[in-house]
Amino acid sequence: MIEIRKPLSPKEWDQYYDLRYRVLRKPLGQPVGSERNDGDISGEHFALYDDGHLKAIARLDSAGEGIAQVRFVAVDSSEQGKGYGRLIMEATERKAGVQGNTKMILHARDYAVNFYERLGYKIVEKSHLLFGVLQHYLMEKPL
Ligand SMILES: CC(C)(COP(=O)(O)OP(=O)(O)OC[C@H]1O[C@@H](n2cnc3c(N)ncnc32)[C@H](O)[C@@H]1OP(=O)(O)O)[C@@H](O)C(=O)NCCC(=O)NCCS
Repeated sequence: MIEIRKPLSPKEWDQYYDLRYRVLRKPLGQPVGSERNDGDISGEHFALYDDGHLKAIARLDSAGEGIAQVRFVAVDSSEQGKGYGRLIMEATERKAGVQGNTKMILHARDYAVNFYERLGYKIVEKSHLLFGVLQHYLMEKPL
């Protein structure tokens, strides 16, 4: 059974940030702790559990009037390509729409651009180089 909700227990929060670190920061040689930022206080956290096992995560932020932004999207390495990324993205989009937003934006890593295009996002422009190496693209989708 698939459940998408925020982590609840201290153990679930540890697993949530650990997945974020392992998938999004460790491969870039960044230290533990670099996976967190101030937006974790205000952002909404999404965790996908399949039969109780954490598979995918995402955070939903506000990016101004009527605009939502999804950040820190990650699927556990051994679980990629099984549809979990699509499911967690759709959950963030539904929530952002219910909240009255009309647009979702995100900064995609170059190798994730095709994934977001499959979900209906369009490139707006080249954005930042994370840690000086990883090109990102600003993408958007009407909700
Ligand atoms: C990118 C990522 C979130 C995608 O999640 P996923 O669970 O592997 O993707 P899904 O299985 O849900 O795929 C959804 C669709 O996108 C396609 N897709 C997934 N990854 C793709 C890729 N790299 N290139 C092209 N298409 C891709 C799938 O074929 C599928 O298409 P369909 O539903 O039309 O058949 C995940 O692979 C990941 O965490 N990667 C490493 C971290 C990362 O890049 N995070 C994003 C930072 S911006």
